[in-house]
Amino acid sequence: MAAAQPGRGAFLSDIETLRRRAREHIAQGAVTPGYHADRSVVLKLLNEALATEIICTLRYKRHYFMAKGIHAESVAAEFLEHANEEQQHADLIAARITQLGGEPDFSPDGLASRSHAEYVEGENLEDMIREDLVAERIAIDSYGEFICFLGNDDPTTRRMLEEILATEEEHADELLSLLRGQRG
Ligand SMILES: [Fe+2]
Ligand SMILES: [Fe+2]
Repeated sequence: MAAAQPGRGAFLSDIETLRRRAREHIAQGAVTPGYHADRSVVLKLLNEALATEIICTLRYKRHYFMAKGIHAESVAAEFLEHANEEQQHADLIAARITQLGGEPDFSPDGLASRSHAEYVEGENLEDMIREDLVAERIAIDSYGEFICFLGNDDPTTRRMLEEILATEEEHADELLSLLRGQRG
């Protein structure tokens, strides 16, 4: 099934949805006694992050193979590196979920709707890079909110998320450079 090709408006509303959803979960967490992290909320947010990383891995893999087809070897190499790093993030998050006594959700059913970022194929190389940049910016916002939500209540999860966030920021920075390169 071909993925929808959202325009700019769709991107903006997705961020609003993401923020609304994050706030809803944060509101649930705030009602726990002593402001300690609510394990069930943390697990739910971690599973959303896991879905996001899986979708990002799949999108980068698609872009890697399509970019190879149009002889854009250096961009393809960047896509592959990002795909591998998103896969590592997914594994870190799944491991943390089990450490917290939860179950990582790898079900393909509903994967795209659990994910914050979208699976957009892109029409051409510039489109692919732009869509990846949009997805990274969503991930950056999402992880930033998650980290703020945790505060000092779960330092191990927080430290893991901070490291993932730093990589997503590097990805966004690299994509912006690639996008500028495409425009000459
Ligand atoms: Fe990631
Ligand atoms: Fe990333």
